[in-house]
Amino acid sequence: MPPASAPVPRHLAVIMDGNGRWAQRRRRPRVVGHRAGARAVNLTIDFCLRQGIEVLTLFAFSSENWGRPEEEVGALMKLFLNALEREVDELDRRGVRVRFIGERGRFAEAIAQRMAAAEAQTAGNARLQLNIAASYGGRQDIATAARALAREAAAGRLDPDSIDEAMVGAHVALAGLPAPDLFIRTGGDRRISNFLLWQLAYTELWFTETLWPDVDAGVLQQALDDYAGRERRFGLTSAQIAPVEASA
Ligand code: IPE
Ligand code: IPE
Ligand code: MG
Repeated sequence: MPPASAPVPRHLAVIMDGNGRWAQRRRRPRVVGHRAGARAVNLTIDFCLRQGIEVLTLFAFSSENWGRPEEEVGALMKLFLNALEREVDELDRRGVRVRFIGERGRFAEAIAQRMAAAEAQTAGNARLQLNIAASYGGRQDIATAARALAREAAAGRLDPDSIDEAMVGAHVALAGLPAPDLFIRTGGDRRISNFLLWQLAYTELWFTETLWPDVDAGVLQQALDDYAGRERRFGLTSAQIAPVEASA
């Protein structure tokens, strides 16, 4: 057990992977795994509320996932729409502020409208900020920021020489929020899969074989315990990070 004072991440980012394999192991269609994955989403939100985590960012659907078989994409869209209809009141009641990041224009009007409505309904909440990355890609996110800055420069409102990391950071998704402290990927693969490329620069990475629908509070706690034991140096030396301890 970590000491009681162990730091809890302010911002947790999760790649919820392994739904398809979870279903295939049960000889069921992949969509059954996506449905089962929705339960783990609720459980993870509960966990963050209990732990006092301020920001939770979930990767629900990547830019590349549009290339999956039409049947699977259609089923996922139905699930999104149902979840938006079913869950938002409860999230609102619990003080969760919901936001979506990604290319919203690619969704059907009914879904885009529900997303906007969920954001508007929960805009005043501050207990937990829940970001759902849907039709999101890290490269696309950075390209969108570059385009916005180029437009400003072309219009003569921005000196290109003044563009620095802070300015780019202010134009990518999740600007204004603390960067993710801890990244979790379930499902056993050890890759980023075009998630928050800019934002994960100094995030602690944690991987588990557990498939997303099987995730429970125990698995999430393991990740937090591991995180609590890490030393984040941000390019500095240990002595600089904890001068008192290092010289003792
Ligand atoms: C993650 O689970 C959910 C989405 C990408 C929408 P997968 O569907 O990728 O499940 P696996 O990786 O094939 O098992
Ligand atoms: C990443 O999972 C995207 C989401 C979980 C939404 P994928 O299953 O799409 O990633 P790859 O294809 O294994 O890299
Ligand atoms: Mg996958």
